[in-house]
Amino acid sequence: MINFLDLKAINDTFEPELSLAIKRVLDSGWYLLGNETKAFEQEYAAFIGAKHCIGVANGLDALRLILKAFIIKGDMNVGDEIIVPANTYIATILAITDNRLKPVLIEPDLTTYNINPFNIEEKITKRTKGIMIVHLYGQNAMHPEINRLVEKYKLKLIEDNAQAAGAIYNEELIYNNTIYQKSNSEKSKNKRNMLFNNSISNSIQCSKQKKTGSLGSAAGHSFYPGKNIGCLGDGGAVTSDDDELAQLIRVLANYGSNKKYQNEYQGLNSRLDELQAAILRVKLPLLNTYNQQRFIIAKFYCENIKNPEIILPQDNNSSLFTFNSSLSHVWHLFVIRHPDRDRLQRYLYENDIQTLIHYPVPPHKQKAFKEWNNLSYPVTEQIHSEVLSLPISPVMEKSEAIRVVEVLNNFK
Ligand SMILES: Cc1ncc(COP(=O)(O)O)c(C=O)c1O
Repeated sequence: MINFLDLKAINDTFEPELSLAIKRVLDSGWYLLGNETKAFEQEYAAFIGAKHCIGVANGLDALRLILKAFIIKGDMNVGDEIIVPANTYIATILAITDNRLKPVLIEPDLTTYNINPFNIEEKITKRTKGIMIVHLYGQNAMHPEINRLVEKYKLKLIEDNAQAAGAIYNEELIYNNTIYQKSNSEKSKNKRNMLFNNSISNSIQCSKQKKTGSLGSAAGHSFYPGKNIGCLGDGGAVTSDDDELAQLIRVLANYGSNKKYQNEYQGLNSRLDELQAAILRVKLPLLNTYNQQRFIIAKFYCENIKNPEIILPQDNNSSLFTFNSSLSHVWHLFVIRHPDRDRLQRYLYENDIQTLIHYPVPPHKQKAFKEWNNLSYPVTEQIHSEVLSLPISPVMEKSEAIRVVEVLNNFK
């Protein structure tokens, strides 16, 4: 069976460093709010290109805490509206409703599956206070139109970067994909003999190139085990350049307390622990390399899957594979569409290929949001009925990718 994702195999590539990091924490006798978390926060902030990083318990909490902090600061009030894609994992929406803010669902672009920037303005009202974009499946969702709206209506831009650690937003590429300069990439440090070893020789550096997670007022990150950088358990982070907001989130994540037993706010207990931080510190230096391995598999799939009924991932300016290291998509998931998705999934399973669906039921059709069940978001619903995620990971063997392509091309 070709597994959808072999987490054990991925984590094995980090041995013995992972075991040593775990032992280091065990031996330290210090398990929360210590040096490992502090060091990881600095390293991840530098990686993302943000001034601050606050380690929290998971990605949902990261988003909840950002909105909670905006409410406490007075930038948002209960009942205010937050623009959000209708096509997302439910956590994005839960972060909004949990703060008693109102999600305003926006239909996605059928080529990227991300929020359609040109559907937003008509939904902006006097109560709109923020836009929460989601870099779904690992693909940058930012667009100059979103920046224009944020500035015009003085909105907070919040990024859900749970699926896109390491992705790049390149404004110039989106305006005009011919503006670029080449430079040498950092050498692959990966000790594993990487699969498609025709590796990456050039990277792109543009003046307007930034990592997702550094584009707005604040961003939420998830280190759920299956993410491009994952813990051995739950973990998350907030990144932000805003000193006041970051400090408030740090306090809110620790019971609303800045000083032991002095509680300024009604906070949460949501902290990244020392063990998970130490594990993430082992993994972070290889994140770009592992993302490039995902890229190579994605490119191989896109170049070789020839079944006319299968719709492959795309973007708006066909630059997904133009520039090797400039990853506007970090391929957390490789998602295809097919009109007869369920039959295709069964066929793949019968041929020993495991696939998953991200996601089978959109948020507005979930029982948790009964009040929206009768609403219609046709593009979102079409996506949910047609998408299928193929195996992709940094440890996937070339023979496995070839097999997936072969089986897909034979599907009638
Ligand atoms: C888009 C998106 N947002 C938020 C989350 C929440 O992250 P977590 O599972 O760490 O709470 C996830 C992941 O599961 C996600 O995929």
